[in-house]
Amino acid sequence: MCGIIGFTGSSPAVPLLLDGLERLEYRGYDSAGVAVISAEKGLQIQKCKGRLSALRERLDSLPPLEGTTGMGHTRWATHGEPNDVNSHPHVSQNGQVAIVHNGIIENYAEIKEFLLHEGVRFRSDTDSEVVAQLLDYYFTAGSDPLDAVYRVLERLEGAYALGILCADQPDMLIAARKDAPLLLGYGQGENFIASDATAIIAHTRTVAYMEDGEVAVLTPDGIAVYDEYRRPVEKQRHTIDWDVSAAEKGGYAHFMFKEIMEQPDALRHTVSPRLRDGEVVFDELALTEEKLRSFQRIYIVACGSSYHVGMLGKYNLERFLRLPVEVCLASEFRYSGPLVDERSLVIVISQSGETLDSMAALREARSRGGYILAIVNVVGSSIARESDDVLYTWAGPEIAVATTKAYSTQLALLTMLGLWMGKALGRLDGAEYAAVTAELAALPGKLETVLSSAGAYQYLASLYFNRDCVFFIGRNLDYALGLEGSLKLKEISYIHSESYAAGELKHGTISLIEPGTLVVALATYGPLIDKAVSNIVEVKARGAEVVALTTESHRERMAELADHLLVIPDSHPALQPNLGVVPLQLFAYYIALQRGCDIDKPKNLAKSVTVE
Ligand code: G6P
Repeated sequence: MCGIIGFTGSSPAVPLLLDGLERLEYRGYDSAGVAVISAEKGLQIQKCKGRLSALRERLDSLPPLEGTTGMGHTRWATHGEPNDVNSHPHVSQNGQVAIVHNGIIENYAEIKEFLLHEGVRFRSDTDSEVVAQLLDYYFTAGSDPLDAVYRVLERLEGAYALGILCADQPDMLIAARKDAPLLLGYGQGENFIASDATAIIAHTRTVAYMEDGEVAVLTPDGIAVYDEYRRPVEKQRHTIDWDVSAAEKGGYAHFMFKEIMEQPDALRHTVSPRLRDGEVVFDELALTEEKLRSFQRIYIVACGSSYHVGMLGKYNLERFLRLPVEVCLASEFRYSGPLVDERSLVIVISQSGETLDSMAALREARSRGGYILAIVNVVGSSIARESDDVLYTWAGPEIAVATTKAYSTQLALLTMLGLWMGKALGRLDGAEYAAVTAELAALPGKLETVLSSAGAYQYLASLYFNRDCVFFIGRNLDYALGLEGSLKLKEISYIHSESYAAGELKHGTISLIEPGTLVVALATYGPLIDKAVSNIVEVKARGAEVVALTTESHRERMAELADHLLVIPDSHPALQPNLGVVPLQLFAYYIALQRGCDIDKPKNLAKSVTVE
């Protein structure tokens, strides 16, 4: 979490830093701050609790901060409550150094104790401040800036992306990375650091991704990068191929709505290049047929909505491959002593490619000999780089904290992977392969049909936005889909919602159904429609109000049972959730809108979770 941007060049730093922070605010938004430096005025800092707008107001009310080198930070608090003092940047006791940090310094207490013993006075409750104070300690002891940085990094345990300014170096910015994302941006007479490319894309498209252990020294004229042993590193530069407009709202009220509406195009980007003459083709995969044949078991490891994609993927993969698939929450998997070995395929799914638990799970699986295939959206992210193989979703930047288009594209890509593997292994029936690939090609067009009824979802939301509690029920693929529908609703509208496998209702949950309780019944999975009908009847008998999500072919039957219908076009069952998720996203969106929620930045959440 937390967003970092840094700049050194010849134009005033503050406007550029604020613009970059605006694009990074999705990473955390409980406080924000900037530090700039000039030869005349030295280090100047402003920071405060609250959204970036609060920082802007404060800066507007003060004489401008002067300097053409600086850094900014937007925070998602871990250690120390969100307040002005705990906001970043942190300045050392003697004012010699300022830092911004993303990550957690796990041994901060031990370092703090050492420094307190040395007479250092701390201002904040954060783990991050120890970095500033320890740097100052080594400066005072005579180290030059880079020496001091290396001496500090040697002592740090945990994860960090760091930006560092030294009071007597007005044209220099230092960056360091371990287990938290940080990239370098190369401009003309100006250079950048950023947590992700959206913060700097307006200024440069040429970037390099910092690796763990690397330290970068930026001046307006260049960037020198060193490895953990302080040997110079020649960085490979990449060109960002998406446009700045992709990371802007473009006239929509919210990023979430824009990203929902972008789903047909996002899916075209994901699917079309990999679907040729009715065949799924993955030019980018290094996985050999021999290796593929060696797999005895598949693990899907992920967090949040990406985990829900894995839940859906399990049904399709097991059906296509006749191999056992285990879906694991990355935060559990990493500590569970998983039975991964050389015969295991481990699929790691992550939009950001930076989720700490997913990254740790990847490393755990690799250490046990698993073959790692990542499904990732952010090109060049850590998970993508550490995997044996990567399939990019190519959904474009996703800014809203609640994922929509990344979820949809992950899901389609995982189904495609299943098709490809099933065919290569000769385990997938040819007719089914042909039917699913034909539906894949039709998916974007059908999604456009679903999106064209957005008004209907808005109406439905107006009926139910003031509920305290909602249940989602479904079976098989509809159960896994309900988990995502429920999560979408609760994360942006703060309505308590639960998702249940419909067959489990009578084992306890049904006692919570009372007259007027809203139940969203998912009935899109054709083979189990009769069972879905029985479950709807059961909750109706207890007075529930039912909104049923179903397909055109079951419209009439459901209309007799449900109070309201959400109807989507028919598709192959394996792809039906790709259509079914969209009404659930829109339902959640419009409910949150009616409730006046901050849809793109729900409270306490962050998009990229780089802490444990
Ligand atoms: C956060 C986001 C979720 C996301 C999850 C996993 O909680 O708010 O939308 O599903 O992290 O993120 P990843 O980037 O690994 O898919």
